[in-house]
Amino acid sequence: MPKITEIEDLKRIYKRRVPKMFYDYAETGSWTEQTFRDNCSDFDEIRLRQRIAVDMDNRTTKAKMVGQDYAMPVALAPVGLCGMQSADGEIKAARAAEKFGVPFTLSTLSICSIEDIASHTSAPFWFQVYTLRDDDFMQRLFARAKDAKCSALVITVDLQIMGQRHKDIKNGLSAPPKLTPSSILNLATKVGWGLEMLQTKRRFFGNVVGHAKGVSDPGSLASWTAEAFDPSLDWERIREFRRRWDGPVILKGILDPEDAKMALDVGADAIVVSNHGGRQLDGALSSIRMLPQIMDAVGDRIEVHLDSGIRSGQDVLKALALGAKGTMIGRAFVYGLGAMGEAGVTRALEVIHKELDTTMALCGERDVANLGRHNLLLPEDFATRWR
Ligand SMILES: Cc1cc2nc3c(=O)[nH]c(=O)nc-3n(C[C@H](O)[C@H](O)[C@H](O)COP(=O)(O)O)c2cc1C
Repeated sequence: MPKITEIEDLKRIYKRRVPKMFYDYAETGSWTEQTFRDNCSDFDEIRLRQRIAVDMDNRTTKAKMVGQDYAMPVALAPVGLCGMQSADGEIKAARAAEKFGVPFTLSTLSICSIEDIASHTSAPFWFQVYTLRDDDFMQRLFARAKDAKCSALVITVDLQIMGQRHKDIKNGLSAPPKLTPSSILNLATKVGWGLEMLQTKRRFFGNVVGHAKGVSDPGSLASWTAEAFDPSLDWERIREFRRRWDGPVILKGILDPEDAKMALDVGADAIVVSNHGGRQLDGALSSIRMLPQIMDAVGDRIEVHLDSGIRSGQDVLKALALGAKGTMIGRAFVYGLGAMGEAGVTRALEVIHKELDTTMALCGERDVANLGRHNLLLPEDFATRWR
């Protein structure tokens, strides 16, 4: 068993183990991938303030997110097709999250269904909905999430149409993979992945197939998004979704202070400052760079979470110190899932937790709740370089 000390170690194993089509699906941004890259490199621009001789005993990373207690303020982000990164991947990730004490968010575009997760876990999980044209299907998704006792609804608001990701088109991304000469050649080198996949029946979009009408090719993400997503989404429809769910609603994909104010106005309980991991508007600023402006606009009136670019506990700490109350990790847990299944997701969470805890201590803090701007050293123009 190789020694895994950082998220990058999991990524290396993941790359070897999983078919190229699915590695590329995760490890890509839209168009030039500028925003995808900036999401990580902007975290590197932020430095930490070292303090010494502060009592570091009895530290805690425990935190509340949307009213619930967790082991640390880190949730697993909704990620489509996890069941193609590893057989029954969503069940494995949900189990790892439950054991660790952090929320798991199931994507609409998962392979395992809402009911699969509910029957394989006991902790309530969060469910993510995309905003789809088919209102009947949306109503049924809400009802299924309620029946499964999901404790929060995450509404993703930054994907009315899909940003183009070149690699997915070139690879002919589909679930399960279509057999072409090049995909067969690649699959032949992924024996462990293939053997596991042969043992599960879960290989299609579990929340969609058999539930949604008029989706002609349920294996194809591209055709599903082209047909099913609602390009005419407006704030009234988001307000209506808010009304329909009688629990916490988290709007994911807010990147502008004006949209953050609108989220507050429609009654969301929390927002996730996010650019979808650089997969939608290439050229948008990174989430971490937009966070200070959004905190100034709404930070004391709504719970602000952040994702996009987090690869370490240090990154989590930086987001918290800039005011976020929670964070989400996407690729950081997908690398673990693809590398080692449930154990890999657990390892990703352990790595991030240890980095967060140790870094917090070296900054002279004992409680994540006390992290603040005073722990950071920022370039003077960090939040204002682009206007
Ligand atoms: C492979 C992949 C699939 C994703 N699928 C979804 C999805 O189905 N729903 C959603 O709201 N966000 C989706 N996202 C975005 C994530 O929820 C999250 O915003 C993003 O991964 C955060 O960036 P990070 O990967 O740098 O942590 C996906 C991201 C990746 C990498």
